[in-house]
Amino acid sequence: MANPMPEAVARLCRRAAPEPDDVLDEMETTARESGFPTIGPDAGAFYRLSARLTAASSVFEFGSGFGYSAYWVAPALPSDGQIVLTEHDPDELDMAREFFARGGYDDRAVFEEGDAIETVERYDGPFDLVLVDNEDDRYVEAFEAVRGKVAPGGIVLADNVLAAGEQFGPDAVLDALDGDEAPATAHHIADYYERVRADPDFETALVPVGEGLLASVRL
Ligand SMILES: C[S@@+](CC[C@H](N)C(=O)[O-])C[C@H]1O[C@@H](n2cnc3c(N)ncnc32)[C@H](O)[C@@H]1O
Repeated sequence: MANPMPEAVARLCRRAAPEPDDVLDEMETTARESGFPTIGPDAGAFYRLSARLTAASSVFEFGSGFGYSAYWVAPALPSDGQIVLTEHDPDELDMAREFFARGGYDDRAVFEEGDAIETVERYDGPFDLVLVDNEDDRYVEAFEAVRGKVAPGGIVLADNVLAAGEQFGPDAVLDALDGDEAPATAHHIADYYERVRADPDFETALVPVGEGLLASVRL
């Protein structure tokens, strides 16, 4: 399935976004060559913008892989700020440590190996910004684990709400929301839409960059 963003829009996103540094360029190449599913540069730029808008000093990620998404945010954090990366694959997390050290951002990163949802239980928050990018059948669980730890004005971003590689696209999410037949993954994403929209403490909007971000702000 093609990325749901029209090619020209994706190219314009890149013209508008901050320039990646050499480390982020290399992470981009690593993802492309290995086929690793990162949030990509367009969602990455919006993730960083969200950190700027919330003046974020505390960020939590559910599912960090080799640190690509977290690296987008790192330059927007103060040097005494903190981003918690979570990943159950130790090799991915080792790569993240190395990239962060090379970029000079390891002072503000905490690398947590293991299950992200178990990990968040050990943190009190408050978080200014959260990325939900773990396995899709546990997006709702991730939101429920973190929602009470999000600062007022803080933002929860969930990735892959329009598409996920070859698995599903926007039509399948619509079908799932309408109760029609759709791949299981699209149903998991639809469950997430319904969960955040029903939450009186959050207001949500779809940001159609990359494979789609659902942005939920804590009221
Ligand atoms: C889609 S990738 C995205 C990684 C990263 N956010 C990025 O954009 O570069 C998701 C990653 O989350 C990890 N993951 C999925 N569920 C997880 C969980 N419950 N706890 C820890 N890691 C998880 C996977 O191993 C994978 O590396």
